[in-house]
Amino acid sequence: MFRQPKQVMVSLLAYGEAPRVRLPWDSRFTPAMLRGHLELHPRLSFWNQTTGEYAIGGRWRGRRDVGAVLETSKGNSQSLLVETLVTRFREDGFRAVVLSQDEADAACSLYLACGWRKLDRLLVYRLTDAWPYDRQKPTDLAVSSFHPGDLAGLTSLDREAFPWLWWNDPSDFLAYSSSENVAVFLARAGGRLLGYVSYSSRNNRGHLDRLAVRPASAGKGYGSWLLDFAVRRMWQSGIRDIGLTTQETNLAAQELYQRFGFVKTGETHEVIGQELSKT
Ligand SMILES: CC(C)(COP(=O)(O)OP(=O)(O)OC[C@H]1O[C@@H](n2cnc3c(N)ncnc32)[C@H](O)[C@@H]1OP(=O)(O)O)[C@@H](O)C(=O)NCCC(=O)NCCS
Repeated sequence: MFRQPKQVMVSLLAYGEAPRVRLPWDSRFTPAMLRGHLELHPRLSFWNQTTGEYAIGGRWRGRRDVGAVLETSKGNSQSLLVETLVTRFREDGFRAVVLSQDEADAACSLYLACGWRKLDRLLVYRLTDAWPYDRQKPTDLAVSSFHPGDLAGLTSLDREAFPWLWWNDPSDFLAYSSSENVAVFLARAGGRLLGYVSYSSRNNRGHLDRLAVRPASAGKGYGSWLLDFAVRRMWQSGIRDIGLTTQETNLAAQELYQRFGFVKTGETHEVIGQELSKT
């Protein structure tokens, strides 16, 4: 359990107060980074002015409706700080709150003991073998690079294909798609958007970020072809090590990746959180 504070006062952490926060050496934030973060998200962090303890909140995967506990100090005020942050997310209409990977790694059991739960679990896959595939493109399929004008169509496809926790935030996706090391491709048949695939790469390593086919068009080979297309492109650009994650319960995706030679690494990422309702 969180240690119960005797009498602790917590208040909103303003960006001008960032230098006074007691960040440990292994914090993901420097005071300057924290200041920048607080400027962007001014309502989502709290602290104990006396001790310098803190709970830094943000948005999970850029989502407007899913908050994140990014980092907390592990002292006497932790319980109250986290509770205050969760209350703020609830007041602001967030649908859920989850722990950042760092926070989950540091204090998962504490949160679970306080009623937080596993919302999902991701399995990590990796491919380091050669890619012998070169599938014939389904004749009705046309492929093009993503353009910002495609955002509305892609968002609706995304919402059909993925459980709500994994929906992309449209503006976050736009920022992601414009990154230099990211490639996004759309597949259409008869002018209708049926699927998309996206990946990012750095230093000869790649990550398959998204693969989705509209449920009504699933099972027709589009997903296999999009996967083959994306991996071939990565391979052609010199990438020899490709990672991806997929949900533990997503057997269709696991079967697909395994059939193409992706191997489970045994590494998993738990998504620890809670769904929020207005009280
Ligand atoms: C996973 C996904 C991309 C597969 O796309 P798809 O167009 O249906 O794939 P294909 O038609 O090429 O089928 C490839 C294989 O996927 C598996 N598969 C597809 N649909 C399946 C289903 N409903 N149940 C079980 N396996 C399924 C099968 O192994 C299939 O092999 P088969 O052709 O021998 O039957 C698609 O179902 C999807 O978008 N799912 C939701 C989003 C998602 O989970 N993305 C990937 C996780 S990050």
